[in-house]
Amino acid sequence: MVTRQLPKPTELLELMQFKRPDFNGKRRRLTGALTINDLRTIAKRRTPKAAFDYTDGAAEGELSLARARQAFADIEFHPSILRPAPEVDTSVEILSGPSALPFGIAPTGFTRLMQTEGEVAGAGAAAAAGIPFTLSTLGTTSIEDVRATNPDGRNWFQLYVMRDREISYGLVRRAAAAGYDTLHFTVDTPVSGARLRDKRNGFSIPPQLSLGTVINALPRPWWWVDFLTTPKLEFASLATTGGTVGELLDAAMDPTISFDDLAVIRELWPGKIVVKGVQTLEDSLRLRDAGVDGIVLSNHGGRQLDRAPVPFHLLPSVRRTVGDDFTVMIDTGIMNGADIVAAIALGADFTLIGRAYLYGLMAGGRAGVDRTIAILRSEIERTMRLLGVSSLAELDPGHVTQLRRLGPVSVHAD
Ligand SMILES: Cc1cc2nc3c(=O)[nH]c(=O)nc-3n(C[C@H](O)[C@H](O)[C@H](O)COP(=O)(O)O)c2cc1C
Repeated sequence: MVTRQLPKPTELLELMQFKRPDFNGKRRRLTGALTINDLRTIAKRRTPKAAFDYTDGAAEGELSLARARQAFADIEFHPSILRPAPEVDTSVEILSGPSALPFGIAPTGFTRLMQTEGEVAGAGAAAAAGIPFTLSTLGTTSIEDVRATNPDGRNWFQLYVMRDREISYGLVRRAAAAGYDTLHFTVDTPVSGARLRDKRNGFSIPPQLSLGTVINALPRPWWWVDFLTTPKLEFASLATTGGTVGELLDAAMDPTISFDDLAVIRELWPGKIVVKGVQTLEDSLRLRDAGVDGIVLSNHGGRQLDRAPVPFHLLPSVRRTVGDDFTVMIDTGIMNGADIVAAIALGADFTLIGRAYLYGLMAGGRAGVDRTIAILRSEIERTMRLLGVSSLAELDPGHVTQLRRLGPVSVHAD
């Protein structure tokens, strides 16, 4: 039998704790986003289809990206019990400098297309959070302007070695003069990947107005107001080198780049140099032996070779093979702070986020990138506490099992 009684008015009043409504729409939107996927949903609503798809999409059947995200979902964590971790330290030392969190912002081209604040929002948010920001060769804010946004923090510069080598060497010299401490030499773009969504959308850089884009713009007026009332979208660091955007894009991809280019860049660049887009054990070893400071295991967020190796799958064997003293970073597919914790446990020194940052940017400019970082930070801290570790150095392979859906076909004949 349940005993019933009439509610007392004072008890009812206690229950009615109505929250004061937040009339700031952007803040309300962003605080309501609890995951990177929530930010993606907001981003999709607010960004014209062609620009959203350019960011969200990948190459061909988009299998590389789907598999990379699935690989992070397909893990099992092994927590240690009764090991109090009231305070957790999420900081790391990476390439001889500090980072408050075990991730930085990956280089992305044409970032002001996604949202007008672009790289300035990314670099500003990175500076505030104490993490590195990587500017792309195809960035839409210049090397010097990004540095001015983050003058005391860590700036990394990503290099495409262009057909006209002098253009690339000029960028390397400018980034060094501006105080960037690390160069990411991207090597997975001998040609551009086939981004089918872009083809289907008739996507062009810079965006062109067609009947379709105008209709799609109607529910997204603010993107268009921003686009039409802010400085022209261009590859800011390359603006002085001449050529149309299309010509510059073509020139950025050079199928003839080789280890010889690496040697030349090594001579020109005074700081740390890492090679981004490494996808095999053999290349990892070769680069270590060639004397680079580190590698980024990456398949370019699935935007280049489809059905490329999943970087997270490669990680444990690369770490075992190259030894503990060589810097190994990883990107592609990171959508959750727990993905980052798993990567660190399996031997990564650091991780990079591409789309997770861009979804935040599209959802709310600088405040949106701040939100991305805050979401990942809280997921990292919570995962560490639940695993019973209080620093990233305590994470080891015993904390994670990778569960494989796909395995190689057995090669021995029977
Ligand atoms: C819209 C977009 C543009 C990108 N542009 C570049 C680029 O200019 N240079 C580069 O090295 N990588 C570029 N990348 C790849 C990222 O640096 C990174 O490797 C990838 O986004 C990681 O995967 P994730 O998006 O799943 O985090 C780009 C990625 C995206 C999504």
